[in-house]
Amino acid sequence: MFENLKAQPADKILALMAAYREDPRDEKVDLGVGVYKDANGNTPVMRAVKEAERRIVADQTTKAYTGLAGDPAFSDAMINLVLGDTVARDRIAAVATPGGTGAIRQALELIKYAAPEAKVWLSNPTWPNHPSIIKYLKMPTADYRYFDNATRGVDFAGLMEDLGTVAEGDVVLLHGCCHNPTGANLTAAQMDEVIALLKTRKAVPLVDIAYQGFGDGLEDDAAATRAIASAFDECLIAASCSKNFGVYRERTGILMAISKDAESQPLTQKTLAFLNRQNYSFPPDHGARVVTTILTDPDLRADWEAELEETRLGMLKLRQQLADELKRLTNSDRFSFLADHRGMFSRLGTTPELVEKMREEHGIYMVSDSRMNIAGLNEKTVPILAKAIVDAGV
Ligand code: LMR
Repeated sequence: MFENLKAQPADKILALMAAYREDPRDEKVDLGVGVYKDANGNTPVMRAVKEAERRIVADQTTKAYTGLAGDPAFSDAMINLVLGDTVARDRIAAVATPGGTGAIRQALELIKYAAPEAKVWLSNPTWPNHPSIIKYLKMPTADYRYFDNATRGVDFAGLMEDLGTVAEGDVVLLHGCCHNPTGANLTAAQMDEVIALLKTRKAVPLVDIAYQGFGDGLEDDAAATRAIASAFDECLIAASCSKNFGVYRERTGILMAISKDAESQPLTQKTLAFLNRQNYSFPPDHGARVVTTILTDPDLRADWEAELEETRLGMLKLRQQLADELKRLTNSDRFSFLADHRGMFSRLGTTPELVEKMREEHGIYMVSDSRMNIAGLNEKTVPILAKAIVDAGV
């Protein structure tokens, strides 16, 4: 049977990771996969995570199964982190998932189950795994304009025009903050316009929030998600703990499905548990337990927030340094958008050919669509990147 398998195209982010590893050059710079690196190029275990793990190992008396939805304390802690008190708890169904990708996958499974005809609208561009999973699940999909290559900001007029054609019951995937792959984000006022439009279209939002705390801070980064959640009768939120807790390999995420009222919630909750059972039964527990321990202990939480804030400010500093260096080299403000973007990524807005040129001549590894992981830079590699950008003629 295996001879019938069709080779699938490689995921461009993961293929780049492999190519970087094989490059023998010492001075190579990895701006590919979205993983935070400190000034020494390491991805550290956060202090609060280390301490939470120590406590869990010391105190844990059993490895027996949790529930199909994961530990309810994890759901409560994450609902609180993402939504605060904007939505009544009894309207929210939630399941722990293997990472943010697991949450997206389960959200799509739920949509497919509830409304097989619903089209899923994606920003163009979006994280490549969004369209890939949708294609794999054979779900109807469409794009809405998002990035303006001329300004390297959001093409808001194009976005509104495209979302104006969304049909009743269609699902619109919105990035909660720190748009991946562009780094260009809607302002709060623009998000309000999008919400008003989607309400008139009777659409269902699906929010992907994977970088809370990496843009403008934990609370500000949650604002768009909260505005969406409080405006709609029904919506879905897929949240990842991979980046903001640095627990990438532990696969820690959550899917929240907000029902129109408390009476409708139990059916959604049971269906999400059923979908977990079909796909992998019980979700992973360790990362979720670490996150719960941190969020519910005031000292650990304060330490986590402080370290996350250091990380965020470090990324902002690198953005500014890169924009300043490019200003110095080009004598222009052409690259000032790099300081305005938020989150881990910025899309440079150049061609795959010039991306390739920077890789060959300067050992700079960025995704072919010119997405750069700003958190992969440090003070020493910023000038190398700036020179590569200018030499390549971007
Ligand atoms: C990324 O976009 O680089 C991250 O979300 C990691 C991944 O799984 O692609």
